[in-house]
Amino acid sequence: MELDLAKTVCRIDQQKKLAETLGMTEWIKYLDEDQFLIEKLELFDLLNLKEKTNQKILDIGAGLGHFGSISKYHNHEYLGTYFGRTSKSLEPFHRDAGLNMTEFGLFPNYDKNIPKGPWDCIIMIRTTFELNEEWSSDDWKELYQCCMDNLNPNGQLLIKSNLAVELKRKYGRLETQCWNRMMSAFPNKSPLPQWSWATWHWIKE
Ligand SMILES: C[S@@+](CC[C@H](N)C(=O)[O-])C[C@H]1O[C@@H](n2cnc3c(N)ncnc32)[C@H](O)[C@@H]1O
Repeated sequence: MELDLAKTVCRIDQQKKLAETLGMTEWIKYLDEDQFLIEKLELFDLLNLKEKTNQKILDIGAGLGHFGSISKYHNHEYLGTYFGRTSKSLEPFHRDAGLNMTEFGLFPNYDKNIPKGPWDCIIMIRTTFELNEEWSSDDWKELYQCCMDNLNPNGQLLIKSNLAVELKRKYGRLETQCWNRMMSAFPNKSPLPQWSWATWHWIKE
């Protein structure tokens, strides 16, 4: 999908007006900067979702829900999750886009009971929960297993961490520590040259 069409499908102009009206300045970058939408289009291609039909997609930490709008345009069935105060205030954007959303949080040391599948595709893009000192390598492994248990055969799991941007060391040594834990949980990175940094992609056998 071309970027201009994606902007129409994701109602970027309407959502900018909505963001201004609601004073949601912290999310404006997702509407002003093309890189975030381009990233979603590239991931959509990577997951082969243009060619597939009627996929059941779970988007953990959906943000404004742009991946959902692109999915719906391609006739997939989509459920996004939001979490916490900031995310809850995105409800007008989700309503504007007609997206199916549910509240769901992931925490270190707690069960990782994701919304029940089976799903054809589970994605986590720049969810920020990984930037947490208490989030261990075992938490990642548990989350991975839970996702796999909730995928159909040939289902896909994609995790693209926010650490790639955060490695600018906004938080001191925390980024490196969290990154090492992901690497320790998932030493076999997926062979995806363009996404080889902080991105994992698995297809269930
Ligand atoms: C930076 S936004 C990314 C949004 C979207 N995936 C994107 O790439 O445009 C982070 C998202 O992660 C979600 N999130 C943050 N902490 C979470 C947690 N502990 N459990 C579940 N979701 C969380 C937020 O609700 C938000 O939707």
